[in-house]
Amino acid sequence: MTDKIGVGMLGYSFMGRAHSYAFKNMPHFFSPPPAIPELVSIYGRNVSNVKLAAENYGFRRFTTDWRNIISDGDVHIVDNCLPNYMHHKVSIEAIEHGKHVLCEKPLGMNAAEAKEMWETAKKGKVKAMVAFNYRFVPAVILARELVKTGKLGRIYHFRARYLQQWLIDPNFPLVWRLDKDKAGTGPIGDLGSHIIDLAHFILGDIRSVYAVIKNFIDERPLPYNSTKMGKVTVEDAFVAVVEFYQGAIGTLEASRFATGRMNYNNFEINGENGSIEFNLERMNELKYFIKEGDEKTHGWSNILVTEKVHPYIAKYWPSGHILGWDHTFINEVYHLIDAIVDEKDIGPLGATFEDGYRNNVILDALVESATEGKKVNIHY
Ligand SMILES: NC(=O)c1ccc[n+]([C@@H]2O[C@H](COP(=O)([O-])OP(=O)(O)OC[C@H]3O[C@@H](n4cnc5c(N)ncnc54)[C@H](O)[C@@H]3O)[C@@H](O)[C@H]2O)c1
Repeated sequence: MTDKIGVGMLGYSFMGRAHSYAFKNMPHFFSPPPAIPELVSIYGRNVSNVKLAAENYGFRRFTTDWRNIISDGDVHIVDNCLPNYMHHKVSIEAIEHGKHVLCEKPLGMNAAEAKEMWETAKKGKVKAMVAFNYRFVPAVILARELVKTGKLGRIYHFRARYLQQWLIDPNFPLVWRLDKDKAGTGPIGDLGSHIIDLAHFILGDIRSVYAVIKNFIDERPLPYNSTKMGKVTVEDAFVAVVEFYQGAIGTLEASRFATGRMNYNNFEINGENGSIEFNLERMNELKYFIKEGDEKTHGWSNILVTEKVHPYIAKYWPSGHILGWDHTFINEVYHLIDAIVDEKDIGPLGATFEDGYRNNVILDALVESATEGKKVNIHY
């Protein structure tokens, strides 16, 4: 009989829903699973919404007090899908209660918070992982392999953009993501944290940043009273020039004001022998250019990353039967549970709390650089 592992979910909305789906469906594909996730309890602030979420997602119970999840004896994994300002306190308490923790990104509101979380995780005898789910896209893992094995040669450039358009409407309400006290930063932490993690995952640590931030709309209607306006306290967009310890230079950009861009998480890497490009909206493909063979036939090709030799694909469908965004979460929770059950390391494939801390250091440096108008050298 495969063991069971109890899951306590914090948050039932966007990420709470995505992660619950992943825990529920992981054994459908990873057979036999390292352990079968049992959806024990789910937390949310609104009693009728969280009750409905428990029924729909398949949780045994629900609560409006997150501490009930952490003290629940049937819960082994606490999954923190709460707004950023609740990552630090709640994840630390969960680890101190002996729970394994999966925490959404960015790990902390700043590097100081993330460092404490990492230190708590080091002391605890549990697994702690940051939910940087794009590490689990097969095409991203292939991109990393092409860089790490030297196929592209020396890497000169890494440029990444994470662009969305959902804030263009000036009447879009002042949700928690626009409040510095709850989110920490705007697209720097929301979208930038993802592309910074991909840069770190594929190329290694960033050495310096030089950033510019911009606000386009200063006030928005309050979410529960649209006749009143409240102040937007985070940036609306950033661009940055970065240097890597490995020698490459690059650019990072994120915005929620990029008209026509829905979830455009894109990076391009140029090396001495070839280049690759990834775009999440075409997540089954990796664009590939290699300087080999006849110059007359040089050109970009499109690798459809759905062959059984590609990462994770053999767990799912036959060749060419594409995967979706939701599968990144299934791969992610499999990785965590496998690490727990078989006592494996979270890294380098999964993002450790140390990776989360290093990510927060860059986020802080971007804010410092943009605020002070200077290049900031990174000290971890
Ligand atoms: N990995 C990814 O691709 C990805 C995508 C989106 C969000 N995230 C991260 O996941 C976390 C949650 O984001 P989300 O999109 O699920 O948020 P959401 O607003 O959709 O859900 C937030 C949940 O937290 C609960 N909550 C508790 N206190 C709250 C408060 N003061 N304000 C609002 N909600 C509160 C709500 O009940 C809700 O269930 C964030 O840290 C975010 O950065 C990650």
